[in-house]
Amino acid sequence: MKTIKKDVLIIGSGLSGLYTSLCLNDTLKIGVVTKDHMDKSNSVLAQGGIASCIDKDDSLASHIKDTMSAGSNVNNVDAVTLLVSKAPKEIHKLIDLGVQFDKDEHGMILTTLEGGHSHKRILHAKGDATGQVIMETVVGQVLKKENIEILKQTMAIKIVFHSEQVVGVIVLNNNQFVFIETSVVVIASGGIGALYRHTTNHPFSTGDGIVLAKEAGCSLVDMCFVQFHPTAFYSKEGDKKFLITEAVRGEGGKLLDRNYKPFMSKYDKRLDLASRDVVSKSIVDCMQKQNIKHVWLDITQHSKDFLEKRFPTIYAFLKKHEIYMEKSYIPVAPVAHYFIGGITTDLDGRTTVDGIYACGEVSSTGVHGANRLASNSLLECLVFGKRTANHINKRLTKNNVLSQQSQITQHIQEQMKVLDQFPPCNDQAPYLKFKNLIQSVMTQYAGIIREDKALTIAYEDICKIKQEVQEFKAVCPLYFEVFNMCIVAEQVILDAIEKDSVGCHYKISSSDNES
Ligand code: SIN
Repeated sequence: MKTIKKDVLIIGSGLSGLYTSLCLNDTLKIGVVTKDHMDKSNSVLAQGGIASCIDKDDSLASHIKDTMSAGSNVNNVDAVTLLVSKAPKEIHKLIDLGVQFDKDEHGMILTTLEGGHSHKRILHAKGDATGQVIMETVVGQVLKKENIEILKQTMAIKIVFHSEQVVGVIVLNNNQFVFIETSVVVIASGGIGALYRHTTNHPFSTGDGIVLAKEAGCSLVDMCFVQFHPTAFYSKEGDKKFLITEAVRGEGGKLLDRNYKPFMSKYDKRLDLASRDVVSKSIVDCMQKQNIKHVWLDITQHSKDFLEKRFPTIYAFLKKHEIYMEKSYIPVAPVAHYFIGGITTDLDGRTTVDGIYACGEVSSTGVHGANRLASNSLLECLVFGKRTANHINKRLTKNNVLSQQSQITQHIQEQMKVLDQFPPCNDQAPYLKFKNLIQSVMTQYAGIIREDKALTIAYEDICKIKQEVQEFKAVCPLYFEVFNMCIVAEQVILDAIEKDSVGCHYKISSSDNES
């Protein structure tokens, strides 16, 4: 059995995982497990920006109020206060690390609006490439650290305990199980967008960290809170959808119906800059009433020069589709974007199981309530990633790291034996079929508008799929991904059945659906 030893093992290489690794003491040996490569994460895809109150006319109180109001006021107030009050400091830290936010001709950082914000407080970089710029900087810093090892194309399979203490994680690399010995695990594996047919997320966002935590005994919360982004580029081809940042509406973009008429005034007095849950529901309502598959986004009031500079990524993408933002409307529709629920954590990233921490999208401090305010997600990665690291730094004194290895070898071998009985994977087709089935069920029954009877059908369908999946156990990431998708789907559906409508979880009664 191949064994690696680390003081801390971080699962996931998005902003929360990597920022945590940077904030841990340099004396600690850190492993970062990533299913793909460091340059591929949903953090990289974040376009619009990062929210922070930096303008003298803005206030922390206003950012807190907007975050709470977007979250239907069911947010954890302490988490919100912490997030907002630490934001300016974290922005300065990013600048110190080398991130260059966009500035005006006087060298002042530019800010913009997004849905649900009552002030311009979204900082951005290279126009609409904020996530990419931040991640390039953070990855660059991580690569300089000798104490951080990146274990790429590696999937975490199981957290192992001995005498009720975390002793390590079994991972799958190159179709082989490997044991990583550690007493501290940080789950930072991101969201669950791949459970849906259409998502802004990478296809590898299958909720693996949620299942890892659940099987280790960690509690989960608000699993039905899946946020749908109102404006992904609509096209008939492809399931992964290109994001059209809310900042386009922040710069004056308007949503239009099939007759090219603005329609948001029918739904909310904040119009196109209402919070994300409201805009997504309004678009779906408009699409249903007009029997259309998308609405339009109109930003034609701006010049080509402005749009090319302000939204270079989107401009280039649309140009490939022969859409020119200065003269053509953009076809858009809501798609699965962000997971608000997840692994229950306190404000230091501690889950309900000692030795297991979680931060970023996979975790839930309650900071986002029932609907995340736009551009609070990169910020969450920084604020709670750092707090997670600080807590671990205090926990791991030089004396107690890697102290127990000799007693556990036999215990691990027993655990590995079970997995080693899995056959090799000879055919990917069954797993792709299962993925497709899960996505169909979730998209049809657990999307933006939900209904109890349909959710019950969805639960039965997912249970059946899970049973079939288990017949196809194999030593390949695809098997574990599909199995994880089943478990996460079950949890989303069960919570959706249990909870009344709030924020992004919107249920109608069966009679509404029939009428
Ligand atoms: C966007 O740019 O619209 C997405 C940013 C976010 O998810 O907050």
